[in-house]
Amino acid sequence: MTGRNLVLNIADHGYSVVGYDQDASKTDALRHEAASRDIRGATTLKEFVGLLRVPRAVMLLVPVGPPVDAVIRDLLPWLAHGDLIIDGGNSHFNDTDLRAKTLAERGIQFFGMGVSGGEHGARYGPSIMPGGASEAYERVQPIFEASAAQVDHEPCVTWLGPGSAGHYVKMVHNGIEYGLMQLIAETYDLMKRGVGLNDDELYDVYNAWNTGELAGYLLEITSHIFRKTDEQTGKRLIDVILDEARQKSTGMWASQDAMDLHVPMPTMDVAVAMRNLSGCDQERKEASRVLPRPIRSVDGDRQMFIGQLRSALYAGMIITYAQGMALLAAASTKHAYHLDLEAVARIWRGGCIIRATLLEDIRAAFRARRDLSNLLLDPTLSKTVMAHQQNLRKVVGVASELGIPAPSLMMSLAYLDSGRSAWLPANLIQAQREYFGAHTYERIDAKGTFHTQWEKG
Ligand code: 6PG
Repeated sequence: MTGRNLVLNIADHGYSVVGYDQDASKTDALRHEAASRDIRGATTLKEFVGLLRVPRAVMLLVPVGPPVDAVIRDLLPWLAHGDLIIDGGNSHFNDTDLRAKTLAERGIQFFGMGVSGGEHGARYGPSIMPGGASEAYERVQPIFEASAAQVDHEPCVTWLGPGSAGHYVKMVHNGIEYGLMQLIAETYDLMKRGVGLNDDELYDVYNAWNTGELAGYLLEITSHIFRKTDEQTGKRLIDVILDEARQKSTGMWASQDAMDLHVPMPTMDVAVAMRNLSGCDQERKEASRVLPRPIRSVDGDRQMFIGQLRSALYAGMIITYAQGMALLAAASTKHAYHLDLEAVARIWRGGCIIRATLLEDIRAAFRARRDLSNLLLDPTLSKTVMAHQQNLRKVVGVASELGIPAPSLMMSLAYLDSGRSAWLPANLIQAQREYFGAHTYERIDAKGTFHTQWEKG
């Protein structure tokens, strides 16, 4: 579906496209839908490759992992030196680096390209995150610039860097996506079980929140979700959906790589953990009997609490983007991507799942200081976070008193408080490591490493 939509989107802009699928019914449907557009369909690789202009550009939109390698393997005998393969799926960046290297040895150029925006984005303008051979980008640049989402006449696409830069940026996009989704889900829980709002009221709240500084695609779809009726039961669909969130793992990969790079991003880590915990449904049911704790409702002014929740969510959103951008900065150094973080913020402003008004401020922050190590150090964003942190603190306190889990809001606050703490109790951790394992320690008053006989004297 995404492939078909992307083909139609590209053809809408006057480019000729050939779609390949072994399933003849799909290529027939594509031909049928092509109407006056220059779209052809092929069911064999021979036919497909024969229809492409040389040097060829082939985009793969297949499930990640072995299917990507299988298609590349099948394609290779038909390709020639200078042809370009673009992997438009959510491949792991390590796989992309490996494929780029193997293909370069055979004279084939390779792009790992993140495409965000789902079915609708693919059809009417996604955010496109390509990385790989820069010389090949010029060939496809006009096509991508025309078919990407446009914000203020700027296309939501740019060449991000060499190797796996594109897939890395998409992976972090998805990590941020997981974090924002979890934050919103916690506000839902606090308003449903804490305040007792019904689905119509939740629609109204999210609809109102999706304006001004908080506005963004995820809040927009969240409000719509509360309005949707289930055709089978006539109930609101949200109330018949199982409380178990699955994943295709890109958000998890972001957390894994952040751990490898020693970059803290607890909001996103806990978002992954909460998806995993949601899957432990049997244990949760059993534990709710063994460890019962009635959930209380919010005391006092409910409207005021909802206002605080809005403010807490905004602080959490800024902190989540800050963690993701910090990971990109570290990965850019480690993998020599030379990422332009202002450009990343620019191409995320439209088409993608995490598009939000806030990205304008994020873009401005990196425009003002290209080497900004953390968004929370930007003068404007730091003021904004400080203006909202009291409400984040309040909401976290209320959630803990009510017994409603709010781990991503809590982690966002903990990240803020720890990140701005000039002193942390890590001296004790150094001392403990040294005590039980003689790992040595550093001192505040002298350089070097030291060892102490702790049990002596
Ligand atoms: C996008 C999305 C998309 C993602 C899934 C959700 O940017 O369009 O991020 O690429 O694969 O829609 O991923 P999970 O299955 O991991 O939640």
